[in-house]
Amino acid sequence: MATLKKSKKSAKPKITIKKKVVKATKKGKKMSGEVFYPSKQVLEEARLKDWDKLAKSAGKDLKGFWEAEANELEWFSKWKKVLDDSKKPFFKWFTGAKVNIVHNAIDRHLKTHRKNQLALIWESEDGKEHRNFSYYAMNREVTRMANIIKSMGIKKGERVTIYMGRVPEIVFAMLACAKIGAIHSVVFGGFSVDSLAGRIEDSKSKLVITCDGSFQNGKIVQLKSIVDESLKRCPSVENVVVVKRVNNEVNMEEGRDHWYHNLCEQPIAEGKCETEQMDSEDPLFILYTSGSTGKPKAILHTHGGYMVGTYATLKYCFDIRDDDRWWCTADPGWITGHSYLVYGPMINGATSFMFEGGPAFPEPNRWWQCIERYGITIFYTAPTAIRGLMRFGDSWPQKHDLSSLRLLGTVGEPINPEAWKWYHRVIGDNKLPIIDTWWQTETGAFQIAPLPVTPLKPGSGTKPFFGQEAEIVDENGKPVADETEGYLVLKNPWPSMLRTIYGDDERYVTQYWSKHPGKYTTGDSAKRDKDGYFWIIGRVDDVIKVSGHRLGTAEVESALVSHPAVAEAAAIGLPHDIKGQAIYTFVLLRAGKVASEELAEELRQHVATHMGPIARPEEVRFVDKLPKTRSGKIMRRVLKARAQGLPEGDISTLEE
Ligand code: WT7
Repeated sequence: MATLKKSKKSAKPKITIKKKVVKATKKGKKMSGEVFYPSKQVLEEARLKDWDKLAKSAGKDLKGFWEAEANELEWFSKWKKVLDDSKKPFFKWFTGAKVNIVHNAIDRHLKTHRKNQLALIWESEDGKEHRNFSYYAMNREVTRMANIIKSMGIKKGERVTIYMGRVPEIVFAMLACAKIGAIHSVVFGGFSVDSLAGRIEDSKSKLVITCDGSFQNGKIVQLKSIVDESLKRCPSVENVVVVKRVNNEVNMEEGRDHWYHNLCEQPIAEGKCETEQMDSEDPLFILYTSGSTGKPKAILHTHGGYMVGTYATLKYCFDIRDDDRWWCTADPGWITGHSYLVYGPMINGATSFMFEGGPAFPEPNRWWQCIERYGITIFYTAPTAIRGLMRFGDSWPQKHDLSSLRLLGTVGEPINPEAWKWYHRVIGDNKLPIIDTWWQTETGAFQIAPLPVTPLKPGSGTKPFFGQEAEIVDENGKPVADETEGYLVLKNPWPSMLRTIYGDDERYVTQYWSKHPGKYTTGDSAKRDKDGYFWIIGRVDDVIKVSGHRLGTAEVESALVSHPAVAEAAAIGLPHDIKGQAIYTFVLLRAGKVASEELAEELRQHVATHMGPIARPEEVRFVDKLPKTRSGKIMRRVLKARAQGLPEGDISTLEE
């Protein structure tokens, strides 16, 4: 791989922004396929030029690599061990150390020039409200929220459910929990009653922080009534703090529900709040995500390792700096929002932009307008959004000056080369690198991703991050040849890895560490090409990625079965032009119920009401029978093949 230093020595650096130039690997080896090399400017600006060297040394000494990263941050006291793998797969990082992620995301910046630098810029959906917070102001807001949470009786280690729209207070709430050592459990504001209630119940939260409502494409989502409905099933909740956002009529239950703005005026909200000294391995948050079976799993992350992982990955892969205006479009309700809207950018001391609305309301230039308005320098979004915006044509982005941008990023699902090229050409002015980051809720931080100087191939996240080794294996765990599809596994532990499934150690072991002993099972299928680049194909389990959002077939099925007309149901994901995948469902009605167009629509609505609009099935198809194994498991693979008119594969286990 070319580095600026090396290329200077050779006669002439053969680097252009176009894909033509071939000589960019170290030995001048030709890379296969279509390759986009970094421009001269990118190479000149990059702080880390010799990535190969660092990759090699991290490969030989991953503990040494991570220890050096950890040493760039502040600890109340340092670790005895960088990595404790004596009880694997229950790995521990920086054991014996005392730390708090908030100390590194806020407190330490207050001692430097960053104190008066912006931590967060926010714009409302309608573009009429703007709020900015310096690191100093962020500390004030988080402290106030922390005092309020404490006054609700929340102690270290207790869970707090956060269910809000994209407003600054969601960031304050997350950081406030972390500051006092409470465990936050953010539930995406697009989820509805069943999903919210299930997550509150499972986490046994005593406190819920919410908003009266949120704006979505000019309409109001009634967050507070969804909370009210959910709490009928959740006896653990003692208090609800409500942030006023949309000014709608809401029900406030005496003694349980409190307006945030009223609490802010109480003496209890005033004054200092010490940042709790946590053990490195103390829980920071849980985040529910869909797995192959059953209910969503609470993925547990910790203060020390997660902090180091999000810090280092953002620093290297996006080369983020103090003067960057970073925009990650993800909602804080997903891991991407946790790691790269809230924690990663703040630990790095950068400025994060958060936008309340979506990309195309009221018009499809809304995002491009924000890039211009705030001088965004790094823009990180999802393939589904790119495909959706691409559909409106080039004229919308072309109305705006996007020249502040220096890097682009993508995450959440494989990006198809057509969308990649549009993003590169139209948003990236034919020259900006696209950092395609592969990772998961479980990994906490990027695991396969390029650096700005890495030659890119559209659709590939390139190579594993420093210290990580990925492998493609077959059913028996044997590595397969290059260019062959197989299971993607990770071979090395990393600091921001999930520690367990909260309350279910056994499931943690079976889900992630049993299929390929000694290696982490990702649940994805992938290929590696002969240049060592990884190409993700998709999930191999029953997880559906709808517009990059992770949903489980089991959740959709149980929502359907909760309808009185439904006896049995199966859900699968099928390819969709914009969403990547869409949900298709097959329903077996109860005796006496009659299939109709109206009933199909009612069922689609039923799922949307119970789970949230993102889970609304594209189609409900009525069937007389579902293909099952003899042991009674629905064969979704067969349904998928049938629906697409593809061969059904091995159906020897199919019941008669
Ligand atoms: C799954 C994890 C953590 C990021 C947000 C999604 C898919 C994620 C990519 C990518 C191809 C990707 C995988 C993975 N995925 N990033 N760059 N290229 N596929 O987190 O909701 O936990 O989903 O998203 O299938 O397993 P998540």
